[in-house]
Amino acid sequence: MGKSYPTVSEEYRAAVAKCRRKLRGLIAEKNCAPLMLRLAWHSAGTYDAQTGTGGPFGTMRHEVEQGHGANNGLEIAVRILEPIKAQFPNISYGDFYQLAGVVAVEITGGPEVPFHPGRQDKPEPPEEGRLPDATKGSDHLRDVFGKQMGLSDRDIVALSGGHTLGRCHKERSGFEGAWTTNPLIFDNSYFKELLSGENKDLLQLPSDKALLADPVFRPFVEKYAADEDAFFADYAEAHMKLSELGFADA
Ligand code: HEM
Repeated sequence: MGKSYPTVSEEYRAAVAKCRRKLRGLIAEKNCAPLMLRLAWHSAGTYDAQTGTGGPFGTMRHEVEQGHGANNGLEIAVRILEPIKAQFPNISYGDFYQLAGVVAVEITGGPEVPFHPGRQDKPEPPEEGRLPDATKGSDHLRDVFGKQMGLSDRDIVALSGGHTLGRCHKERSGFEGAWTTNPLIFDNSYFKELLSGENKDLLQLPSDKALLADPVFRPFVEKYAADEDAFFADYAEAHMKLSELGFADA
């Protein structure tokens, strides 16, 4: 069964289309697609299926949530986006941040991730501590993505491919370096690099390496390294699911 999405007005739809164009321009101009993808993911990834709390409902606008340890640096993303948000006061922050994530993937050469508007902002940020810990392995990834968010093993591997964009900053996460040699291009090089082993110029977090060691995750890594179309198809579906956690339940 598909989800039944809320009906939004024609006016809202038109505002989203216009906002999308503004976001393309801004994100391209500032070369900040990686940070925008991380903003969208950290906004959505707090969803807890058991309690229905957290998720992509605009709470990252609150300083409290920007102050969570996992979100170091995201206050910059929120600040960069604010002048565009101000032009679209009717668009919810939930829709706006998720739209920025979808645009970030699109303009760096990644797949088109379907976007459905209509998220209603929640007043309160979720509790801290729901995002994954980069020093941990597959059990932890399944606890967070599977038990907490309700995503599949395949989604975990496909979404980890988001590390095709961007890099770690010592002052934000304690880690330093990029996963690929072209961190502003969305392609399947994350999986190729992962399979080719350690490289002194690139980084692999323990949570990235966990994908290689796990017997269920690894075949997906191999498939995505060999077949970029297969990665893009699974990534687009997984990213859409992530961006809609707790939204328009079937
Ligand atoms: C699997 C569990 C994950 C862990 C443990 C993890 C951890 C991290 C860490 C430690 C950083 C560095 C932050 C910094 O220092 O600036 C980072 C950056 C990033 N992550 Fe993840 N991440 C995970 C999943 C994801 C997912 C699902 C996505 C998106 C689909 C994603 C997208 C990004 C992007 C684009 C950056 C680069 C940000 C920038 O360049 O400023 N990550 N991640």
